[in-house]
Amino acid sequence: MTRPINHDFIDYDAYFAQRIQDLKDEGRYRVFADLARRAGEYPRARRYDANGEPLPDVTVWCSNDYLGMGQHKAVLKAMTRAVKDYGAGAGGTRNISGTSHPLVVLEGELADLHGKEAALIFTSGFISNEATLSTLASVLPNCHVFSDAYNHASMIQGIRHSNAKKTIFKHNDPSDLERLLREADPAVPKLVAFESVYSMDGDIAPIAELCDVAELEGLMHRLTVIEGTLAKAFGVMGGYIAGSKALVDVVRSFAPGFIFTTALPPAIAAGALASVRHLKASAAERERMHDRAARTKRLLTAAGLPVMPSVSHIVPVLVGDAARCKQASDLLLDRFGIYIQPINYPTVPRGTERLRITPSPLHDDAMVDQLIAALVEIWNELDLPFARG
Ligand SMILES: Cc1ncc(COP(=O)(O)O)c(C=O)c1O
Repeated sequence: MTRPINHDFIDYDAYFAQRIQDLKDEGRYRVFADLARRAGEYPRARRYDANGEPLPDVTVWCSNDYLGMGQHKAVLKAMTRAVKDYGAGAGGTRNISGTSHPLVVLEGELADLHGKEAALIFTSGFISNEATLSTLASVLPNCHVFSDAYNHASMIQGIRHSNAKKTIFKHNDPSDLERLLREADPAVPKLVAFESVYSMDGDIAPIAELCDVAELEGLMHRLTVIEGTLAKAFGVMGGYIAGSKALVDVVRSFAPGFIFTTALPPAIAAGALASVRHLKASAAERERMHDRAARTKRLLTAAGLPVMPSVSHIVPVLVGDAARCKQASDLLLDRFGIYIQPINYPTVPRGTERLRITPSPLHDDAMVDQLIAALVEIWNELDLPFARG
């Protein structure tokens, strides 16, 4: 017998509205800016209001298209060509007619990029982390995972979904990892998971030292499996892993996040392939990006703005409060036509809310100067703390 549903029991919509109101009260309700990038004119973008009416153009300062490869002629040409040659969609999962030639070629190119035997492509970096970590840590009997405290949400999800034992080591701290590995059961397989560049702080893992520590414990290879996204520096979309043939095959054969979802469309794979090939041969985009990031950091520091220490191209500026971070971001967009979204909890710890600036090769000197002037005005207007000293 079917039990009658008591619709009065709980008003779900009221409950959902309350959860959203809690976010609004904390100042961390997310509102998306409705933008359309202009191919060939990036980082300029069109902006639309809630009714779809155009607003003045903006300059984007927070994109993860770090090198501007999402606008690169070689990438656009490869994608246009692939749409003409192969059509739009993938046609299925990799098992059901979704394996297309560009995917196979891209996997070969990525394996070569990382000096590994094989690679496997997923529909996003998130999925590649989730699928790979959950599969490896559940396939290995009694696997014990050691995870950096600042690991990305996709890695945390993957480890959680494996149901393996997990121990968190202090962020970027090889001695803490060593201590924890020594305390662990020597007989069980262990997996150490960390990132290379931490994308919210811009710091870089001490990869060699972490591998040295793991080596003491009988490491398989120094970097057994490398995961990457095709959506940021490569400017397109998708994720991948690179590793030994056997490891890649086990993920290919056991990971639900790989098996039960439609493959990346061939045109996306062709664009990513053009991007990977271009960046293998050219350092110009990276050099220019680092030059832009250095100039931005230098001028922010000179203006007394609280730029957080970062050794990479990521330039975080500390606000330290969710509501004021959102206010600063709104003012930047509405008054100055500068788009930098607020970064709030849970993406970063509470109290470290920030504006995360990502200078690209395409941000010119005038754009940097305009950004600094706008930030100084907003810092004064909102009475935000400048850097001490
Ligand atoms: C370490 C790490 N892994 C995965 C992702 C997600 O990649 P994607 O956007 O391709 O899903 C990110 C993006 O923020 C990341 O920083």
